[in-house]
Amino acid sequence: MNSFDRIIDRSGTGSMKWERYAGKDILPLWVADMDFATPAVVLDAVRRELDHEIMGYPVPRPSQTAAVIEWLEKKHGWKTRPEWFIWLPGVVPALHVALRAYLKPGEKALINAPVYPPFITAPDLSGRDYRDVPFRLKDGRWQLDAAEFADAAKETPLHLLCSPHNPVGRVFSRAELEEMAKVWLANDMVICSDEIHCDLVLNEKTPHIVTATLSPEIEARTVTLMAPSKTWNVPGLCTAFAIIPDAGLRLKFQRTLKGIVPDPNVLGLVACEAAYRHGGPWLDELKDYLRGNLDYMMNFFAVRLPELTIWRPEATYLAWIDCRKLGVASPKEHFESFGVGLHEGALFNAPGYLRINFGCPRSTLVEALHRMEKAVEAKR
Ligand SMILES: Cc1ncc(COP(=O)(O)O)c(C=O)c1O
Repeated sequence: MNSFDRIIDRSGTGSMKWERYAGKDILPLWVADMDFATPAVVLDAVRRELDHEIMGYPVPRPSQTAAVIEWLEKKHGWKTRPEWFIWLPGVVPALHVALRAYLKPGEKALINAPVYPPFITAPDLSGRDYRDVPFRLKDGRWQLDAAEFADAAKETPLHLLCSPHNPVGRVFSRAELEEMAKVWLANDMVICSDEIHCDLVLNEKTPHIVTATLSPEIEARTVTLMAPSKTWNVPGLCTAFAIIPDAGLRLKFQRTLKGIVPDPNVLGLVACEAAYRHGGPWLDELKDYLRGNLDYMMNFFAVRLPELTIWRPEATYLAWIDCRKLGVASPKEHFESFGVGLHEGALFNAPGYLRINFGCPRSTLVEALHRMEKAVEAKR
C-alpha cells in the first residue's frame, strides 16, 4: 500500500478542516492542509526537540536558515543570504505587514482575483485598499490582461502577487513574469510575492520561477514569502519567512512587525530545517501521488461531471471549479447537502465557483467525487 493511501482519522483532533463538519457525514475538502502524515524526518526532528524538555524562546539557528538557503539555490537557482531572512509565524501576517510597510493609508495594492481570501481582506483590515486585475480565460487558460495590468499599476505602488497562484493553479511563465516586471519597474512598484506553493509544481513542463530571480533590479524591489507549511503539511506549526534583499525594504518591514507579529515557535523552526534539509524524497513521492489524484479527478469531471468546469492546476493540491451551470443559488451548500465540503468561491471574489482540495487519500477523493456526482445528478 502507498503510504499516502493511509486514512488517518482526524475527527476530534482539533483540526480546522475536520471540525467544521464535526458530527456530520461531510467530507471536508476545503482549507489547504492535507490529510497525509507529515514526513517522518520532520516528525523525528520535532520529537528530538521535545526530548530536550525545555520549550523556551528560540532564535533561528544558523543551520535553519542555511537549510532554506541551500534548498533555494538547489531547487530554484536563487542565491540568498542569511541577513535577508525574517522569520515569521505565517505568510498571512506578512501580507498585512507588507501592506502597512509599503502603502500609506488609503493607497491601493494590485491583486489578481480570484485569489486566496486574505489578499482580498488584508487591504481593508490594514486601512488600505486594492485594485483588482482579474484573471481572464484566454485559450482555456487563466491569464492576466497586459493592458489592464499596466493601467492598474499606475495607481498601485504594491503588487500582492500569488505565484504559483491559488486558486487557479497557474505557474507563471518567464514571459508572463517579464511582462509584469516591465510594469513594476516602469511604475517603481514593490512586489510582495507569496510563493508558499512554489515547491508543489505538478506539471514538470512549467517550472516555478522565483520572482526575485528575474533580474537584480526586480530582486531589489521584491519581498518573497515562503514557508514549509503547504509543501510538507506543517501549517499548524506556524513557521514562515520573508526574504528581503533590499536593506531599506527590510527595515520598513521589520519596523512594522516589531512587537505585533510574534516570533515563530521553537518546534516550527526545527520542523522547517528538517523539511528543507531532508524532505526532498518525501516531496517527490507526494507529488507523484497528487498527480495520480489529479489524473483521476480530471477524468472523473470530464466523463461524469460535464456540467462543472475544472481547470487542471499546474501547481498546488487545489483545483478551481466553475459551478454556475448547475443552476443552484449556493453550490457550496448544495454539495454539503450531498456530503462534500468545498471552499466557497465568493471568498475568493468569485461567486458560483468552488475550490477543491485533493490532498487526501485516493479513497477519500473517490468517495467525495461520487457524492458530487449524486449532487449534480439531482439537478439534471
Ligand atoms: C497563497 C497562500 N498564502 C498563504 C497561505 C497561508 O499561509 P500561513 O498559514 O503561513 O499564514 C496559504 C494557505 O493556503 C496560501 O494558499
